[in-house]
Amino acid sequence: MSFDSDIKPLFREQDRTAMLSRFDLWKYDDVVKHSFAIYAAVSEGTMPCDERWSPEQVQKLKGWIDAGTPAYKTVPGDQSCISGMARAHVACYGECIADGPVVLPRAGSAVDLFSARISPSACIAEGVDYDTLLERIAEYTLRAAFAHAADQHDWDQDELRRRGLRALELFHNGRAVWGDRIAYEQSLAEVTLTGDYPRFDRANELNPELPECIDRDLRERWRLAGYSVPSLALDMKKLFAELEADAADCARDAREEFMSNLLSGRTIHRRTNEI
Ligand code: HEM
Repeated sequence: MSFDSDIKPLFREQDRTAMLSRFDLWKYDDVVKHSFAIYAAVSEGTMPCDERWSPEQVQKLKGWIDAGTPAYKTVPGDQSCISGMARAHVACYGECIADGPVVLPRAGSAVDLFSARISPSACIAEGVDYDTLLERIAEYTLRAAFAHAADQHDWDQDELRRRGLRALELFHNGRAVWGDRIAYEQSLAEVTLTGDYPRFDRANELNPELPECIDRDLRERWRLAGYSVPSLALDMKKLFAELEADAADCARDAREEFMSNLLSGRTIHRRTNEI
């Protein structure tokens, strides 16, 4: 799957013309940069304004985003472990920074600051230290697992369950983090050809250790909490399943207690009584 052969043909000439004041639907960089907004518009049916996309068309766009918005058919290296934002950065060489939850450290500061998000609407952490980053990911995971159990999860929460830590766009001191050395070096070579290396360098960082560290440290946290789960790098299905099962047990116990209180005639402190 590639942009030119699969994605660009989805956009008609009139779509492109109508949208040119915002972005160019026939330009790879623009479509990558606005991929979440474009996906939201076509999946919700708000765009194009005259004719709704078929489910197959929406699925094709989603598949391309999930595959890492490949520009070309054959991309050496495993692109799956590059964080999504890093991919956006390679397209626009840093212009996306303004869109992202990226907090730069104060001048002269030796502190490492991290940000993480799944999409612009699912910001997990912004400019926090490493321990806080882990806490926020764990909290987001718990909320996502509960939402999944209640069948009320959104797209971003399910991304975490399905794709694990790969779903996260990570930033370190304001730079998009790349986990895949080969893909990073390939992109760097392309950028060097266009002569925009300094901009790329300011916006990107090769750091395969960071996703590995997060995986190891998160699993240790979960282990201490009683959950021994395999690597969270590729998916979090097992962890979600265990959290969901335990949450269901807690909810059942709470309901049983509530019922026995009611039946034994004990006074129930109802929320409506407080009003
Ligand atoms: C597949 C084709 C299309 C896609 C993916 C698309 C996508 C989008 C997106 C993502 C936005 C929001 C942009 C923003 O937040 O700034 C938008 C806005 C808009 N689009 Fe499209 N569009 C498509 C086709 C069209 C067509 C055919 C028309 C008109 C005939 C159109 C007219 C507009 C207008 C007028 C707005 C601005 C709406 C507003 O101000 O709230 N679009 N489109």
